[in-house]
Amino acid sequence: MKINVKAPAKINLSLDALYKRKDNYHELEMVMTTIDLADRLQLVLLEKDCIKLDVKAHFIPDDKRNLVYQAAALLKERFQIKQGVAITLDKSIPVAAGLAGGSSDAAAALKGLNQLWDLNLSLEELADLGAELGSDIPFCLYGGTALATGRGEIIEPLPMMPNCWIVLAKPSISVSTPGVYRDLKVGEVKHPNTKGMVQAIQDGSFEGICDNIGNVLETVTLVKHPEVKRIKEKMLEFGADTALMSGSGPTVFALVKQYSRAKRVYNGLRGFCEEVYLVRPWQEER
Ligand code: C5P
Repeated sequence: MKINVKAPAKINLSLDALYKRKDNYHELEMVMTTIDLADRLQLVLLEKDCIKLDVKAHFIPDDKRNLVYQAAALLKERFQIKQGVAITLDKSIPVAAGLAGGSSDAAAALKGLNQLWDLNLSLEELADLGAELGSDIPFCLYGGTALATGRGEIIEPLPMMPNCWIVLAKPSISVSTPGVYRDLKVGEVKHPNTKGMVQAIQDGSFEGICDNIGNVLETVTLVKHPEVKRIKEKMLEFGADTALMSGSGPTVFALVKQYSRAKRVYNGLRGFCEEVYLVRPWQEER
């Protein structure tokens, strides 16, 4: 038996951190949406009790350090699975980019293995398991557009993002997510209007989304890495309707209503950045 699963990337239309919690996580309010830039996983059932992972990309671990491996190991242990799986992971999403590539791979593995091993777990049960491995995994399981609260694991689905063009640009620097959260001064930053963003999504208003876009983690990453700020400025200069850093960065995305302008932003950015993508919101039904 063989199963193919897609793992789409996400962007943060808004990311707010309200305060630091006793467990050292931040209490968050995020509006996220999946985009049509996706990794692909193939899962093949093995009768032998083992997990094999083959990653078609350089510099990505294919052992216990990989969230896909951890997802399979968690299901195996929790449900006493005696069968095995051979997973091939084909990467298209840039790594350590703020696009939840690793989390989405793990979410796709949970979904696929639920079928392959005949576990009959609900989406909610899979999300609870995913939350044990990473805060963004529950959102990746639901996909589409959603409000994520708590440490990111409480998901309220929202209507689909209005159609538009999305230009992504990732500078070739690494950003440590724990490091960014550690340097964040929650008491001193300007907080985005999450309610306004939720309303804009509910109204299907592209302009409303542009008006309410914001990410508190920009206050850390844009200061530490001026090239990220420069990319954002260039996107606006080339005609983006809005531009924002996704997650803890370093990827910046632009939202553009008109294709001709999106193409201009895309072509312009290719002069500054090696990794540039022109994509659309993910349109698949839940
Ligand atoms: O949950 P995950 O392992 O993806 O989180 C990575 C890191 O991001 C955490 O170790 C923490 O430093 C930071 N984080 C946070 N508050 C959250 C989510 C993540 O401070 N709500």
